[in-house]
Amino acid sequence: MLFYERSMPPTRIGVTAAAGPYSVVIGENTIATLGGELDASGLGPRRILVSSPRVWELHGAKFRKAGAARTPVLVEDGERAKTLATVSRVHDALVKAGADRATVVIAVGGGVIGDLVGFAAATYLRGIRVVHVPTTLLAQVDSAIGGKTGVNHALGKNLIGSFHPPSLVVADPVVLGTLPRREFRAGLYEVIKYGVIAEPSLLDLVRTALPAIFAREPEAVAPLVAASCRIKAKVVTADERESGLRRILNFGHTVGHALEAATKYKRFRHGEAVGYGMLAALWLGVARGVTPQSLYEEILDLIGHLGPLPPVSDISSKDALAAMGRDKKVVAGTLHFVAATGRGATTTLTDVSSKELKAVLKKLGLRA
Ligand SMILES: NC(=O)c1ccc[n+]([C@@H]2O[C@H](COP(=O)([O-])OP(=O)(O)OC[C@H]3O[C@@H](n4cnc5c(N)ncnc54)[C@H](O)[C@@H]3O)[C@@H](O)[C@H]2O)c1
Ligand SMILES: [Zn+2]
Repeated sequence: MLFYERSMPPTRIGVTAAAGPYSVVIGENTIATLGGELDASGLGPRRILVSSPRVWELHGAKFRKAGAARTPVLVEDGERAKTLATVSRVHDALVKAGADRATVVIAVGGGVIGDLVGFAAATYLRGIRVVHVPTTLLAQVDSAIGGKTGVNHALGKNLIGSFHPPSLVVADPVVLGTLPRREFRAGLYEVIKYGVIAEPSLLDLVRTALPAIFAREPEAVAPLVAASCRIKAKVVTADERESGLRRILNFGHTVGHALEAATKYKRFRHGEAVGYGMLAALWLGVARGVTPQSLYEEILDLIGHLGPLPPVSDISSKDALAAMGRDKKVVAGTLHFVAATGRGATTTLTDVSSKELKAVLKKLGLRA
C-alpha cells in the first residue's frame, strides 16, 4: 500500500523577548520532530514533560515515538486546576526528578497547562527553561506565545503570575482533531480577533474555508494558526510588557472578561465571551463614528456562522459594568477600550463613559 506523505515544511516564526529569542514552529506532524527541534535549539538533554491525563491519553504516543521525553508528569487541567496547589505538584515532581538549572520543562496541553507549567518553571530555582507544545486552538494561536504565565486565586482569575517567555513553541495542528467542537470554536474567535486588528485575509479565510476548518483538515487549520502566531509574535516582539501596542490584543476583551466574571467563569469558554466582546467593541466604534458599519455587520455575520453563543439575557448590565471597573485594563482609573477603525486597523479609546457602555451591553442583549 502506498502512503501519501505531505511534505509541507513547517512555518518558523521568530520572537524576540528580552530574555532571548525563541522560535515558534508550526506544521503538520511537528510533534514527531520535537526531539530534533529541542536539540537544534540547544535544549537538552535533561527534559521533563508535563501534561494532563486527558491530553496524554489522546496524544502521548506521539511524544513517546518522538523520543522527546520519558515518563511524563501528569496534573489535572481545566480552569479549576489552575491553582498554586497544582503548581506545587509540578514543583514536587521537579524536585523528585532532581531537576536543575539545565533541565527543560515541556508543557503539553491547553492554555491551563501552559500557564501553570510556565509559572512552575518560572519559579523553580528562580526560573528554568520551558517549552510549549500547545494542544488547543486557543493555546496554539494565543497563550503559548508571549511569556505570560500564572494561575488563579480563589478571589480572581490570573491574579498570581510571572513573566517567563518560552525557549521554543511547537504547534502541531494534527492534535486539534480530538478537540471538542466547542473548544475548537472558542479558539476561532481569537483568530477572528487577529483578522479584525491586523490581518483581514484571516477573515476571508475563515469565511471561505469554514467546513474544512471545522473538519480540522491540517491544510486548512495550519495557515490559520501560522497567520495568528505571526501577528502575536510581531506584537509581543514590539511590546513585550504591554506598555502600548500589545494592548491591541485586548480587542473584544474588555466586555469579554466582564461577561466571564459576571457569570463566575462558568458559562463561557473564554473565546465565546470574546466573541460577544468583539461585537460590543465594534458596536461602540460604530456609535462613536470610528468603526465602519460594514465591518460590524461582517463580523456579526461571521460570528453567527461559527455557531450559537451562550445566552446573555439574564446577565445584569450592572454586574458586567462592575466587573469592567475591576479590569486589569483600567490604567490610572480610565478604561482602555480597543476599537476597530477598519479591517485590520485599531485605535484606543480612553474616554468611554459608563452610559456608552450601558448602551452597548443593552445592544448585546444583557438585562438592565
Ligand atoms: N498566557 C496567555 O497569554 C494566555 C492567553 C489566553 C488565554 N490564556 C489562558 O488559557 C486558559 C484557557 O486555555 P484553553 O482554552 O486551552 O483551555 P484548557 O487548557 O482548559 O483546555 C480545554 C480542555 O481541552 C482539553 N484538551 C486539551 N487539548 C486537547 C486535545 N488536543 N484534544 C482533546 N482535548 C484537549 C483539556 O483537557 C481541557 O479539558 C485560560 O486559563 C486563560 O487564562 C492565557
Ligand atoms: Zn483572549
